[in-house]
Amino acid sequence: MDKSISGFSKLLKSEKIDWLMQHYLSNSKSAKRTITQYWNTDKKLQQLHDEFIENTITNYYLPLGVAPNFLINNKLYAIPMAIEESSVVAAASKAAKFWLSRGGFKTEVISTTKIGQVHFSYNGAAEDLKIYFKTIKSKFFEDAKPLTKNMEKRGGGILDIELRDKTEAIDGYYQLHATFETLDAMGANFINSCLEQFAKTLKREAENALEGNLTIIMSILSNYVPDCIVRAEVSCKVDQLVESNSNAEEFAKKFIQAVAIAEVEPYRAVTHNKGIMNGIDAVVLATGNDFRAVEAGIHAYASKDGRYSSLTHASIENGVFKFWIEIPLALGTVGGLTKLHPLVSLALDLLGKPNSKELMQIVAVAGLAQNFAALKSLTTTGIQEGHMKMHLMNILNQFNASENEKKQIISHFKTHIVTHSAVVEKLETLRVVSN
Ligand code: MEV
Repeated sequence: MDKSISGFSKLLKSEKIDWLMQHYLSNSKSAKRTITQYWNTDKKLQQLHDEFIENTITNYYLPLGVAPNFLINNKLYAIPMAIEESSVVAAASKAAKFWLSRGGFKTEVISTTKIGQVHFSYNGAAEDLKIYFKTIKSKFFEDAKPLTKNMEKRGGGILDIELRDKTEAIDGYYQLHATFETLDAMGANFINSCLEQFAKTLKREAENALEGNLTIIMSILSNYVPDCIVRAEVSCKVDQLVESNSNAEEFAKKFIQAVAIAEVEPYRAVTHNKGIMNGIDAVVLATGNDFRAVEAGIHAYASKDGRYSSLTHASIENGVFKFWIEIPLALGTVGGLTKLHPLVSLALDLLGKPNSKELMQIVAVAGLAQNFAALKSLTTTGIQEGHMKMHLMNILNQFNASENEKKQIISHFKTHIVTHSAVVEKLETLRVVSN
């Protein structure tokens, strides 16, 4: 059977589903039920979601949880997190509570500059291009005025445009490397529009005055934002680190070693940073930001010194334990999904309508908290105890456990080790007894 189609996007939603039913889902009634049961009964709301992307057939739910008790620069937050991994919100909440009684999180936005590039090739003399660029530099700003007017009124805009000679890497390759301040917008549309205008200006001017051939290759923002940096930190006296003072020093030392390992060992660093991204992505997603952009930029930053390394660092000095993170984050609190998606609006309301700098700080804290919780369990009880407790509910749901069965089994595993097979066995025993 031919499973390809042209014009799929032009079909009605119901026709798309029928086509999928016939060609890929064996006309399964249960598949159809699964697709339709996730439709929202509010037709307008459903249409909004349908129109976010092309070829929508249904909605894909993720839980939206909240981690309360985050004290950040002396202000309390309940942080919204959209994530499927069972232990993440619990770990964030635990870390928040732990630091609540130890002064909370201190954060600082270090820089907010974003970057975009026009990539082009030129086969004439480099020197001519460089001299000519200087003479026409102001034209880039002038021609982009209609695009930058509003942003400038609010205090943002194009900061600078440089010509970069990359011919050592690729023959004839140059860039316009531009820097931007986009304030509370993530700025992708603003930056890309400016860049496309720069490309037009460059092409027009070059054709008028340069001898060589200039070809625009592409114009696009960079998701690598090493000058859009936020830092978050926690600290306390070593002896305040754990409830029983006798273990505090040992805990602090092990914790520092765990961070040091992630600083030098890429295999560990990737997992260590993955745990940090559990917190970061969840808040980025809940607040309607682009988590792929954030992921790409942060991982590039983790490799900035030539080897993939930890995003967090820790020290003990004069009896004080300090743990911090420094990451690049380009986030928006206006534009994009922020007004469009009702849950994104709600998440931003929950955070007290932060501006983008405040959101950068909240997101960095979520990453640091997540890493603290992970390292705390890894260096003490191990990760599985907590993970499996959280996973217990997933196993019970997988086997359609009733409320009564759930209650009994959760109570049983308060004092027993959770494994997949132990849960299944217990459930089977209960079912045999009740039959
Ligand atoms: C699991 O999602 C995240 C951890 O593996 C992070 C870490 O090892 O630091 C627990």
